[in-house]
Amino acid sequence: MKDMLERLEERRAQARLGGGEKRIAAQHGRGKLTARERIELLLDKGSFEEFDMFVEHRSTDFGMEKVKIPGDGVVTGWGTVNGRTVFVFAKDFTVFGGSLSEAHAQKIIKIQDMALKMRAPIVGLFDAGGARIQEGVAALGGYGEVFKRNVIASGVIPQISVIMGPCAGGDVYSPAMTDFIFMVRDRSYMFVTGPDVVKTVTNETVTSEELGGAKVHTTKSSVADGAYDNDVEALLQVRRLIDFLPANNQDGVPEIPSFDDPNRVDDSLDTLIPENPNKPYDMKELILKVVDEGDFFEIQEAYAKNIITGFGRVEGRTVGFVANQPMVLAGVLDSDASRKAARFVRFCDAFNIPIVTFEDVPGFLPGTAQEYGGLIKHGAKLLFAYSEATVPLVTVITRKAFGGAYDVMASKHIGGDVNYAWPTAQIAVMGAKGAVEIIFRSDIGDEEKIAARTKEYEDRFMSPFVAAERGYIDEVIMPHSTRRRIARALAMLRHKESERPWKKHDNIPL
Ligand code: HXC
Repeated sequence: MKDMLERLEERRAQARLGGGEKRIAAQHGRGKLTARERIELLLDKGSFEEFDMFVEHRSTDFGMEKVKIPGDGVVTGWGTVNGRTVFVFAKDFTVFGGSLSEAHAQKIIKIQDMALKMRAPIVGLFDAGGARIQEGVAALGGYGEVFKRNVIASGVIPQISVIMGPCAGGDVYSPAMTDFIFMVRDRSYMFVTGPDVVKTVTNETVTSEELGGAKVHTTKSSVADGAYDNDVEALLQVRRLIDFLPANNQDGVPEIPSFDDPNRVDDSLDTLIPENPNKPYDMKELILKVVDEGDFFEIQEAYAKNIITGFGRVEGRTVGFVANQPMVLAGVLDSDASRKAARFVRFCDAFNIPIVTFEDVPGFLPGTAQEYGGLIKHGAKLLFAYSEATVPLVTVITRKAFGGAYDVMASKHIGGDVNYAWPTAQIAVMGAKGAVEIIFRSDIGDEEKIAARTKEYEDRFMSPFVAAERGYIDEVIMPHSTRRRIARALAMLRHKESERPWKKHDNIPL
């Protein structure tokens, strides 16, 4: 018996070594942790239960029968994050570059199936070169099975991907179908084909960083939702995100005890809006002053900064925030901002996370660049996402709500449940200057007349009261009481029911 126990320990120790000490040292030398070290950091101490440690590939081509490494390049299992169950798989770059064989795929599939069955989140830690080249179609088939499960689980359990090394092929496509992708700066890359293939096919010379580094994917392509300086920070931030997320689409949001009084007033908000309506102010200040303990987890912080998306809590319960940012492009809605916010709204709706919208938007961005780029279709994504949402929607207009953007940003007309405005709100088809130049065109040139017309337009329309008179705004509120009003609205909406006609699925403009 003792022998058997010792043999088990030996086999375990060998499996834990993955591709061997030399490759582990090389991994550390590149500033990366090993798959197991990463899992240790992601999960609560001592909570990891590993599965399939002894699985090996079954390939016999290209001499592969002589190189078998227990675990076959991926560490899988489950554990807890602050006590809540999470399934995890971590690619082991020290074993065949973390590439995916048929057996490796079966390990991931097992974890995906279990996560779905248990209705618990799944986190994938990626550091891998895609399909195992020696296995050919068996590896491609394995990816197909993984992809299909990504899609079936989408909207049922949260799926999070962390890119922690060079990733290609299936190791970027599977993350692309999950809810959130995070990267590690300077050592993680995502591309469908790497720089060598790019050079061969297009004769373009690019570095990995230029082709698919964290900067590219968080600022240009919007493939990634955030980037961190190293493995440790990335994993700790993913733990923080998990604390905000429901375990699945039926459990409802987690509740974390809060010591922040929901009735807390903040007098500084009464002077947040500058006297000059064209002067910017930082909308993040409002978000941070409204959420519990100023704790806000921003999604896509570096992309389309004219709109802010992220999670906070009110009375200990998770809320999704969408807010125009007057500091960037005056908070205008363009294609990128619309796509970014639409995806966030749909995530919140899928997982029953209430949405609070802070609105200060001068309209959609005009111009050929936007129109040729499909602004109509991208703007429609956000309109569609808000209109189909059945979660509680609370909207606060702080300043401008002009034109189509007024309708889009969770207005009463498309499903806003509680719509508030600050006294500084201006709700109109457009700003006073543009409006007067169109409807009083014959007065152009007569400055006195134009000034009088502008004043008349401002007095009548550049306020929240025309909308409030019609009931489109439920109440004009004091800025300092915003947190209290939102907390009360969310408490009232907690058991909101909203029926929609049966359909197979919608046809959102993609
Ligand atoms: C088998 C692989 C591998 C792969 C890497 N390795 N990728 N083995 N199959 N796909 C092995 C290497 O042979 C090497 O083994 C070790 O992993 C480390 O790789 P290096 O190249 O030395 O590392 P690095 O220079 O850091 O480059 C990493 C890399 C590069 C950028 C990932 O290896 C690479 O470009 N790999 C191929 C990527 C690719 O084209 N994959 C197929 C995608 S198609 P030793 O023994 O020397 O340590 C795909 C289809 C899915 O995935 C379907 C999508 C829709």
